[in-house]
Amino acid sequence: MEQAVEVLAGDGLVALPTETVYGLAANALSELAVAKVFAVKNRPRFDPLICHVADRAGADALVDAWSEPAQILADRFWPGPLTLVVPKKPVVPDLVTAGSNTVGVRVPAHPLALHILRAFGGPLAAPSANPFTEVSPTTAAHVRAQLGDRVDLIIDGGPCVVGLESTIVMALPEHDPVLLRPGGIPLEAIEAAVGSVNVPSPTELKNASPGRQERHYAPQTPLIIESRQKPDPRVGRLAFRAAHSGYGASVCLSPQGDLDEAAARLFAAIRFLDGGGWDKIEAEPVPEKGLGRAIMDRLRRAEAKRS
Ligand code: TXA
Ligand code: MG
Repeated sequence: MEQAVEVLAGDGLVALPTETVYGLAANALSELAVAKVFAVKNRPRFDPLICHVADRAGADALVDAWSEPAQILADRFWPGPLTLVVPKKPVVPDLVTAGSNTVGVRVPAHPLALHILRAFGGPLAAPSANPFTEVSPTTAAHVRAQLGDRVDLIIDGGPCVVGLESTIVMALPEHDPVLLRPGGIPLEAIEAAVGSVNVPSPTELKNASPGRQERHYAPQTPLIIESRQKPDPRVGRLAFRAAHSGYGASVCLSPQGDLDEAAARLFAAIRFLDGGGWDKIEAEPVPEKGLGRAIMDRLRRAEAKRS
């Protein structure tokens, strides 16, 4: 922990566990440190980073104005897998927000992340610790495989319990809340807290949230979503409730049909099938409720054609 704080204070990069996925953290207030994040991830600079803070006071230092829904959501879901996009204070560098006057903020619910945030005493900009467009890491070993010695330190906090990224809600004063990315907090829970939320179409989203490129979370092996089974020994099957026979390999995400469990296993399962040398990965769709919405979002992006 001490080493992590030292590295961060010296504008270095630390990969650390959160409850969603591993993050590649840097001092959010240092342009030099943040520039390294973009370089290591090979991430275009028009794609803004989320600032992680230890608590509400940490968020207040970055946030210029809290709408009522933003306050309600922060009270209800922090620490937790919810990112709020809200008006930013000038202290947040333009590089972090890609020039936007809003900032994405969240308080993560992982004890190690919180410990480091408190000890560091400032905000940490942290995207998922994967190269741009690739699958997000849910273990320290994934980070090592993808980024290796391009980061100064990797903190191993075990597998991430949620397993996919935070839900992002834009909550600006005078505007209805907008769902920018389905994630670890189900839309149903957000709407139970603040009433109905705007859910833009993928095309509308591409304009509202610069990081929402169609292709993302993508394995090297072509992935397609297919509900019918088409067994083929050259294909890897990503199944929801039961493994399917006749495939080269078949991974079942949750024998109980539990969408939370399926979400937690999703990225590791895609990685496993991606490593099998199959001609393609065929993914069974899951019901679009609860975390199923985020699972289908990630599968659709993984499926999107290379542009
Ligand atoms: O669960 C998570 O959110 C993980 C962990 C590490 O906290 N982080 C994560 O970061 O998923 P990243 O960079 O992989 O995805 C952040 C998304 C990007 O699509 C970005 O475009 C969007 O958040 N975003 C960040 N700030 C924004 C802003 N001011 N306005 C609109 N979208 C924003
Ligand atoms: Mg990411």
